Amino acid sequence: MCGIIGYVGARPAVPLLIEGLRRLEYRGYDSAGIATIEGNSLKVARRAGKLQALITALGESDICGQIGIGHSRWATHGEPIDRNAHPHLDCRKRIAVIHNGIIENYLSFKESLQAEGHRFSSQTDTEILAHLVERFYRGDLEEAVRLGLQGIKGAFAIAVIAADSPEEIIVAKTASPLVIGLGNGEIFFSSDVPALLPHTRQMIFLHDGEMARLRKDSLKITDLTGKEIERQPIHIDWDPLTAQKEGFKHFMRKEIHEQPQAVSATISGCSSWDNYHLHLKEFNLTEQQINEITNIYLIACGTSLHAGMVAKQLWEDFLPLRIGVEIGSEFRYGNSYIDEDTLVIAISQSGETADTLAGVQRAKEKKATVIAITNIVGSALERISDGIIRTFSGPEIGVAATKTFTTQLTALALLGLYLAQRRGSISPQEVRHQLTVLSQIPSLITQLLDREKEIVAIAEKFYHASDFLYLARGLLYPIALEGALKLKEISYIHAEGYPAGEMKHGPIALIDEKMPVVFLLSRHTAYDKVLANIQEVKARKGKVIIFAEREEDHQLNRLAEDIFLLPTSERVALPILHTVPLQLLAYHIAILRGTDVDQPRNLAKTVTVE
Ligand code: G6P
Repeated sequence: MCGIIGYVGARPAVPLLIEGLRRLEYRGYDSAGIATIEGNSLKVARRAGKLQALITALGESDICGQIGIGHSRWATHGEPIDRNAHPHLDCRKRIAVIHNGIIENYLSFKESLQAEGHRFSSQTDTEILAHLVERFYRGDLEEAVRLGLQGIKGAFAIAVIAADSPEEIIVAKTASPLVIGLGNGEIFFSSDVPALLPHTRQMIFLHDGEMARLRKDSLKITDLTGKEIERQPIHIDWDPLTAQKEGFKHFMRKEIHEQPQAVSATISGCSSWDNYHLHLKEFNLTEQQINEITNIYLIACGTSLHAGMVAKQLWEDFLPLRIGVEIGSEFRYGNSYIDEDTLVIAISQSGETADTLAGVQRAKEKKATVIAITNIVGSALERISDGIIRTFSGPEIGVAATKTFTTQLTALALLGLYLAQRRGSISPQEVRHQLTVLSQIPSLITQLLDREKEIVAIAEKFYHASDFLYLARGLLYPIALEGALKLKEISYIHAEGYPAGEMKHGPIALIDEKMPVVFLLSRHTAYDKVLANIQEVKARKGKVIIFAEREEDHQLNRLAEDIFLLPTSERVALPILHTVPLQLLAYHIAILRGTDVDQPRNLAKTVTVE
């Protein structure tokens, strides 16, 4: 959840660390801190609150080390106060450690270290690492970190510097991400690719159970036993500009507006069409593996889960298989039937969500085949999966997922069509037709974005509400969930998504003249039944807001307080087209309420704890 960054080279480290932390703040923003080495002393600054608090604290200070580490925190152990902020130090204040993840067995280490006389100054799990390195440090920092990590359980990506080894940073990881960026006479590392993009595109992803020694002109990768590992860098072709706001006030709005391009890049980036066949790149399953599939589980968390729910509904149109959708954290401990003929599709924009990874691990133990749908090259999920379908969203910085969701929906539509075609349950003509519909989505999204003012007007009417209901059926029910999730994430308004037919079994009790109820309506999803549900809300004086495809139905104007008409399309396009105005609605309501849209309270972009 936390962001980490580090630099060793010939330039002053502090501005580079601060700039890196700015790009990482979406991972966690409870506190921030840096450590550098100047001469032979360690300089540390850390502050609770957003990065700006750290910048203010640094003020005019002229720390000029050319090596350093930085951390942006999402608190797990210990409240977000200065002394719990990273970096954490050993007793002599000669060693500094930053950490992303959780050390599960830290208490037993803490007790034994305290018994040896080590003094702790924070409530964090991380601090034990500084004292463990201190325990083993005899002038060889790499060896001390290796010995210090023995017996450590949990997830970690750590970086260590020591005043007595002033030319190197030691990093190590298990479960949490760590990427090394190679520059000219300088080396960086980070939890996230976007933080390194301004400096280099040549990157090396560290694998679980590996560590590395970074010096300005050399990199040594080893495993935790000390065995050296050779690894070639990967060229990352993300455009550094896409990780900047480019004139937009917030990343979230910029990313909403990038969706036409992101959807189109995903279609062309992960698929091709020739000889009446749809092909998926990097989808490694053989004909036999595909034909032997008996059941499918789509597993994911948060917004990605909603993408999985859409896929189930859509795929059932043309893929006669048992398809289940499972929440990562539940699937892991559940008893769902999995064997070697099960296909598990793990959806995660970050490719690092701990609960989704744990679910995949369980599926692999039962010999299932695993396909990853992710936006991050080289992520943990990619590495443990048998095949990959990548979304081509570019970096998403806003904490609330937007373009990564619509590109997941795109990739899932392509995957469903591909599986159906390979299993012979859909004709090539139909696949071709569906692809044509998919290819029209980017321009339809552009048309929706051009009507943003209509959404602003709706937001202005309802932003004072304390509760919202989002109701829909079938393929649009997961979009109702997603609309409600977006609203609560960034505006802190209580919002519930519900299947419209279930309203009468509970939520109807909530409806009064103050309650805005958003309906998603389509001829493809039980139109008349939803219309009846709208009448029921209207009869109880609820404020009805309708998102519906453009058509001749005069009742709608009578029933709705507000109505937003969408272009008509087909089932495969429906979820994406309904998503875009709901993203804008959540965004503009949040803006009117004055919340921090890009960094909403308590959330993190990448959730690497279970
Ligand atoms: C966090 C983010 C959500 C995201 C979820 C799953 O909660 O704030 O936006 O949907 O994690 O993330 P993933 O990377 O697995 O898609």
